[in-house]
Amino acid sequence: MTHAADFSFRSARLQDAESVFNITKASIGGLARASYSPGQIENWMGERTPSFYEELIGNGRMMVCLRGGVVVGFVDALPGELTRLFILPEVAGVGLGRRLLKIGIAQSRLGHSGSIKLEATVNAVGFYRKCGFRSKARGYFSHGRGGEPIEIVHMELWIPKFATRDASALYGPICWIF
Ligand SMILES: CC(C)(COP(=O)(O)OP(=O)(O)OC[C@H]1O[C@@H](n2cnc3c(N)ncnc32)[C@H](O)[C@@H]1OP(=O)(O)O)[C@@H](O)C(=O)NCCC(=O)NCCS
Repeated sequence: MTHAADFSFRSARLQDAESVFNITKASIGGLARASYSPGQIENWMGERTPSFYEELIGNGRMMVCLRGGVVVGFVDALPGELTRLFILPEVAGVGLGRRLLKIGIAQSRLGHSGSIKLEATVNAVGFYRKCGFRSKARGYFSHGRGGEPIEIVHMELWIPKFATRDASALYGPICWIF
């Protein structure tokens, strides 16, 4: 049985690029299969190689999660946007996705004070809804490299109307989901 204390988190390092590549592939193959065609799953990674993830790590916002010293999940962000969140199938369902999402939101708030958006894979829409995001529109994934078009749902973190900038200044970054 996996416990919350089994996981630790740190900034991604360039040496993590291969793990991040492999986790993305395994996560899609194991957890998104029911929502996409076999061809989409097969070609998901397109022309990407681990060096594609080295570039992303170099941007400085990616965080990884470790269990027993092994990277088992990661999250990446841009200002105002959560761009990637993937975990290995064997650590799904124990709250790790929610913890990484919280970290990713904090990363996307660095240097940004407005709403937070993301492009959810179809299989993950229910997860993001549970965590406070609302669907805005359907579209296609825009952060990949090659591969078949991937249907996604544009989502945005819902913030209640009473959560004004003033409140944010008083209480710090507001996050209503955790
Ligand atoms: C989506 C993903 C990150 C969820 O991670 P997870 O660790 O299994 O999720 P958690 O255990 O933290 O679940 C948090 C809550 O969301 C719910 N949930 C998790 N996955 C869900 C799903 N696919 N649909 C609906 N609800 C879901 C859980 O039941 C839990 O609800 P609770 O708080 O009422 O108990 C994981 O399944 C994954 O990596 N999927 C493949 C990659 C992917 O699609 N990433 C998103 C790309 S945009």
